Amino acid sequence: MKITVVGAGNVGATLAQRIVDRELANECVLIDILEGIPQGKALDMWESTPIQGTDCYVYGTNSYEDTANSDLVVITAGLPRKPGMSRDDLLAKNFEIVKSVTEQAIKYSPNSMLLVVSNPLDAMVYTAYKVSGFEPHRVFGMAGVLDTARYRSFIAMELKVSTRDIQALVLGGHGDSMVPLPRYTMVGGIPLTELLSQERIEAIVERTRKGGGEIVSLLKTGSAYYATSAAIAEMIESIVKDKKRILPCSVYLQGEYGFKDIFLGVPVKLGKNGVEQIFELKLTEEEKAALENSANAVKNVIAKINL
Ligand code: NAI
Ligand code: 2OP
Repeated sequence: MKITVVGAGNVGATLAQRIVDRELANECVLIDILEGIPQGKALDMWESTPIQGTDCYVYGTNSYEDTANSDLVVITAGLPRKPGMSRDDLLAKNFEIVKSVTEQAIKYSPNSMLLVVSNPLDAMVYTAYKVSGFEPHRVFGMAGVLDTARYRSFIAMELKVSTRDIQALVLGGHGDSMVPLPRYTMVGGIPLTELLSQERIEAIVERTRKGGGEIVSLLKTGSAYYATSAAIAEMIESIVKDKKRILPCSVYLQGEYGFKDIFLGVPVKLGKNGVEQIFELKLTEEEKAALENSANAVKNVIAKINL
């Protein structure tokens, strides 16, 4: 298993370290346009392996030749948000970056899978999908695992219980109109709706929707990367170990949930072939309307890109 991480910034470097620490690959390549940064960070990680006792050869580069024959390419290249910016404000710059990264990566790894992280997420996965021409099951984006993790942590804080016991799902695009689903949220098998008032649930849903912005306004110089990289690593583990976890991922819809030619966050089975199955949930009229609203927000962003 060879994994390339494109972008050696906060998300990419933290992810590479998680890949190495958890031995999710035999070989991990960190690539960036900045000279020295991917090489230096990767060498530092490699030098941690005798202490960590892990076997994953990690190295940095500025050349796509070194990424040849990767099984998985994770795209984290691009600008992060600053305070006051929406994810969509990143569109023009990150579109050019993701387009060029995809072209170069697939030239050397034509049989790879592409896992996109750069924002605005759903439009950037769409970009990688169209530019690569890969089958839909080989191109997917990370957002729902992070959004769901935020939702689960806020519920655990409120109820003062272990985060591990919260089972939940956030659907839709990775934007402020994302759709956390309280009706499908369980706390140790007990429906959330039996444990918290409607008012408290709504407050948690709203905090989840704004979860990325909350971190940006605290950090002031960039966006989240610890929970982000943990979320990507969870997806990678399901693929490389063929665990077939059911995780919310941004995937290409071809009629599911009534949407076509769009990437949107829905629950999927992730295994060695990438997206192996898309699950369609029965939604109430209100939940359907919320998902439609989120899909429209994604469509509006996709409409602005020239593909
Ligand atoms: P960062 O600024 O720390 O790192 C980005 C890196 O990309 C930099 O090292 C930069 O040199 C590199 N880069 C720029 N153009 C490149 C190119 N053409 N080829 C290779 N590398 C290039 O940013 P950070 O915090 O790592 O975030 C990365 C992206 O991930 C941002 O777009 C951010 O919005 C997104 N993000 C997405 C999340 C999600 O849930 N999907 C969550 C958190 C961040
Ligand atoms: C996040 O949700 C900014 O998309 C990034 O943290």
